[in-house]
Amino acid sequence: MSTAIVITSGKGGTGKTSLTGGVASCLAALGHRVLCIDMDIGLRNLDLTLGLSDRALMDFTDVLSGRCTLERAAVPHPEIQGLFLLTAPVNLPGTPLDEAAMKALLRQAREQYDYILMDSPAGLGEGFRLACCGADRAVVVSTTDASALRDAQRTVAVLRGRIPRIHLVVNRVQPKLLRRLHTTIDDAMDTAGLPLLGIVPEDPQVLLCANQGTPLILRASRGAAIAYLNIARRLLGQRVPLMKLH
Ligand SMILES: Nc1ncnc2c1ncn2[C@@H]1O[C@H](COP(=O)(O)OP(=O)(O)OP(=O)(O)O)[C@@H](O)[C@H]1O
Ligand SMILES: [Mg+2]
Repeated sequence: MSTAIVITSGKGGTGKTSLTGGVASCLAALGHRVLCIDMDIGLRNLDLTLGLSDRALMDFTDVLSGRCTLERAAVPHPEIQGLFLLTAPVNLPGTPLDEAAMKALLRQAREQYDYILMDSPAGLGEGFRLACCGADRAVVVSTTDASALRDAQRTVAVLRGRIPRIHLVVNRVQPKLLRRLHTTIDDAMDTAGLPLLGIVPEDPQVLLCANQGTPLILRASRGAAIAYLNIARRLLGQRVPLMKLH
C-alpha cells in the first residue's frame, strides 16, 4: 500500500523543502521507493536541495497535461537508490491546474512508489490545495515562532475533514531559546492542535548541505540528520523516542 504525504505549513520558510528532501532520502535509504513532488510552482527548490537541478528537465505539469510520462519526468537520485524527484515548473502554467488530473497522477504514482512526498508551497492558495487534494497524510511544519504556530493552526483548520492523518513537526528547535521564552514543545503542540511527529534541531548543516545539493543523510550523522531519520521511522510506524536536545 502506497502513502501520499503532503508537507505544508501556512507560513513560508519554516523548513518544508528541507524536511521533504531529508525525510524522503531517509525513507529511500531504509529500502523504500520514494517519489518527491515539488509542488512549489515558480519557486521550486527541492531540485537544488537534492542536487538534481541539472537532471530534472520535465515537471509535474508536463505529466498532468500528458506531454510526458511519469516514468520519464521522475528523475532518480544518483547516490540514493529508490529516491526520485518530479519537479515543479519554473513558470506559472497558462491554464489553471486541475485537481482531478492531480489525483490521476497520484493514482499512477501509487502503483510505482511506496511513499509520495509532496512539498507544498507556503500559504493556503491554489498550489497548497493542489498539493493536498490527493494526500492520505499531512505533515505541518512549524518553527516555535508564535506567528508560524498560528499559521500552522489555520492550515490545520483547512485540512481537517479532508486529510485523515495530520501531524506536526517543530523545526529549528533551540532548547536555550525555548527556556528563555518559557515555552515548551508541548505548548507548540497545543497551539497547533496536533499530535507531534518529530522535532528537528537548529542545525547549520541543513543549509550547508542544501547549498551543496547533498542530502543531509549522506554527510551527517547527528542533529537534523538523525531527526529526519527518526521522522521517517515514525512514518513507517516504528516507535522512536523523541530525540534529546542539549
Ligand atoms: N533545522 C534547520 N536548521 C537550520 N536551518 C534550517 C533548518 N530547517 C530549514 N533551515 C533553513 O531555513 C531556510 C528555509 O528552509 P526551507 O526552504 O526548507 O523552508 P520552506 O518552508 O520550504 O520555505 P518556502 O515556504 O519558501 O518554500 C533554508 O535556508 C534552510 O536551509
Ligand atoms: Mg519550500
